[in-house]
Amino acid sequence: MCGIVGYVGHRNVSDVIIAGLQSLEYRGYDSAGMAVLEAPGITIVKGVGKVSDLRKMLSERPLCGSQGIGHTRWATHGGVTEENAHPHCDSSSNIVLVHNGIVENYREIRSEIPGEYRSETDTEVVAQLLSTLYRGNMVGALVELQSRLRGSFALAIMAKDLPGKIYCLRKGSPLVVGMSRDGESLCASDVPAILPYTQDVVYLDDGDISELSTAGIRFWNAAGESVEKRVSHIDWDVSMVDKGGYPHFMLKEINEQGAVLRNSMAGRISGRRVVLSEELPWTRDDVLSWKKLHVVACGTSYYAALVAERFLEDITGFDIRVDVASEYRYRNIMAGPDTLAVFVSQSGETADTLAAERLAMGKGARCLAVTNVLGSTLAREVHDILQLKAGPEIGVAATKTFMGQITVLYLLALHLAKLQGRLPAAMEEELVGEMLSLPYKVEAVLARQESLQKLAAIYSAAEDFLYLGRGRSFPVALEGALKLKEISYIHAEAYAAGEMKHGPIALLDRNVPVVVITPKDGLHEKTFSNILEAKARRAPVIALVTEGDSSLDGTADHVFPVPATLDQFTPFVTVVPLQLFAYYFAKFLGCDIDQPRNLAKSVTVE
Ligand code: M6R
Repeated sequence: MCGIVGYVGHRNVSDVIIAGLQSLEYRGYDSAGMAVLEAPGITIVKGVGKVSDLRKMLSERPLCGSQGIGHTRWATHGGVTEENAHPHCDSSSNIVLVHNGIVENYREIRSEIPGEYRSETDTEVVAQLLSTLYRGNMVGALVELQSRLRGSFALAIMAKDLPGKIYCLRKGSPLVVGMSRDGESLCASDVPAILPYTQDVVYLDDGDISELSTAGIRFWNAAGESVEKRVSHIDWDVSMVDKGGYPHFMLKEINEQGAVLRNSMAGRISGRRVVLSEELPWTRDDVLSWKKLHVVACGTSYYAALVAERFLEDITGFDIRVDVASEYRYRNIMAGPDTLAVFVSQSGETADTLAAERLAMGKGARCLAVTNVLGSTLAREVHDILQLKAGPEIGVAATKTFMGQITVLYLLALHLAKLQGRLPAAMEEELVGEMLSLPYKVEAVLARQESLQKLAAIYSAAEDFLYLGRGRSFPVALEGALKLKEISYIHAEAYAAGEMKHGPIALLDRNVPVVVITPKDGLHEKTFSNILEAKARRAPVIALVTEGDSSLDGTADHVFPVPATLDQFTPFVTVVPLQLFAYYFAKFLGCDIDQPRNLAKSVTVE
C-alpha cells in the first residue's frame, strides 16, 4: 500500500509529483505530501486527504524546484493525521524520506534513539536511524540501515547536504526506477508514474540501493557493491492509464473486457488449439510427475481461482486445492516436488500471496504466477509466469483482471489436460472455438448496460443483498457480492444456492433482494427451487438467465439475459452484469467508485 514518487530533472517537480501520485492513488489515499529541494533547504507540504487536496495546498504555497519526493498514504502506523502523513524527516531536518511498507522493529529502534518524535509512524523512526548512521556516505549508511530494519520497505530519500540526488532502497515492497532521454531520473512504487517519461525501467530487487541524478542512475546491492541492473521495456503506454472519456476507471475497465479476452488469448491459440509451450516449457513427464495442483490467491483473484477450479477438475486429473493465501500460508501444507502451485495475483505484490508462494517454493513445488505485472515480485520469484495482458488496472475494484485471470487459467487447464493426454482433439477444438466467441458475447452484455443502470436505481434503497449461485455460478456470486460491498458499502452476502436453506434464508423478507446467477446449465432446475424458496419469503429476485430462457418469467421480479455459451464458460458472461450492477449502484449512491473507503489496490501488508 502507499505510493512513492521521486523525481530529479529539469521540470517543475511539484507538477511531476502530483501527476505521479495521482496515477498511484489506487495504492492509498488517506493523506498525501511531498518534499522539494528549495535550496538551501528542503520544504515539506503534506496533509490529510487525497492528492487533489495536496494540489490545493500547493496552490496556496507553491514549491519551486526540480528535485523532490512524494507520497500517497494508506495508514498503518498511526491515524490519518497531518503529522503522520509522509514525508518524514530526522530531527535535524537534513534527511527526508517517504516509505511504503512496515518496519516491524520500529518500537525497539525508537527506544534506542530517544528524542522528540512528531508522528506515530515507523517511517519517522527510519529517518532518525538513518540520520545516526549517515556520516557523509549515504550508500554505506543505507547498507547499514537495511541490516537494522525488519519488515518490508521501499524508501525514497533526500538529504539537504546531497543536492541533486535521490536515494532508493528496496526490501520487500516494490520500487521501480527509470531515466528519460532528457536526463530526468524517476523512482516510483509502480510504472504508471514513470510511463510519461520513459518505458524503460529497472525493477529494484530486495536489498538494492540506487542513486538518482540528472547524470544517470547507479545501483548497489545489499553489501554495498556496485552492480549493473537489467532494463525492462514496458509495453504499456501512457494512454492506457487515463480514463479515456469514461467518468471512472472502473467503468472503462469493465468496458475493456472484450479486448482483455482477445489480448489474453492472442498468441496462445492457433487455429482451435492452445499453444502455451513457449511460455510454459513443461514436458509430458513434468506434468505427469505432478499429482497435486494448488491454486492460491486473495480477494477477487481467489474467486477467479474458484471459477477455474471447476474447469480444471473437469478436464485434468489433478487433486486440486484452492485456498486463500492468508490461510494456506499458516497450514501444514502437503506440497512438494509432486505439486504444481499456481499463485494468482493481479498486482503480483500481495503480501499473503507472496508468503504462500515462498512456502510452496521452499517445499520444492513447481511454482507458476498468473499475474498482470511482469516485473512484480511474484513474477520474479517463481519458476513460470503467465501474464494476463489486461493492461494497467487503476480502479481499486478488480474487474478486467478477473476476466484476464479466468481466461488465462482456462488456457492453463487446456494446456495441462493436453500434456496429460486427457484432451481429445475434437474436444479441444470445441472448447477453444467457444472461447474465441466469448469476446463478442461479453460485448453483447456490455451493449445492454443501460438496463442494469435502471435496475440499480430500482434497488438503490436496499441495504442488504443476498447473491446465490450453484457450481460455477457460486464463485461468480461471491465476486458479484464483493463488487457491491467494495464500492457501495452495501452489505452483500454470497452463498452457494443450496446452502441458503441452512441459515441465510432467515434473513429474507421483502427488503432483502436476492440476486441469482442461474444460466441454463445442468444445475438450473435445482437453483429454480431456491428461487421459489426466496419468493415464498417475499424477497425480490433479480435473476441472470440465459437468453431465450423464459422459465423465470413471472417468478423472478427482474430478469437479465446473458448470451448462451457452453456450461463451462458461463462465468465469463455472468460476471459482467454483476460488475455493472455494482458500478451503477455505487454511482447512484454517489460513492467514490475508483477509490472506495478503507481499501487500497495493492495489499502489501499481512
Ligand atoms: O493484486 P491481487 O490480485 O493479489 O489482489 C488481491 C486482492 O487484494 C484484490 O483482488 C481485492 O480483493 C480487490 N479489491 C478486489 O476488487
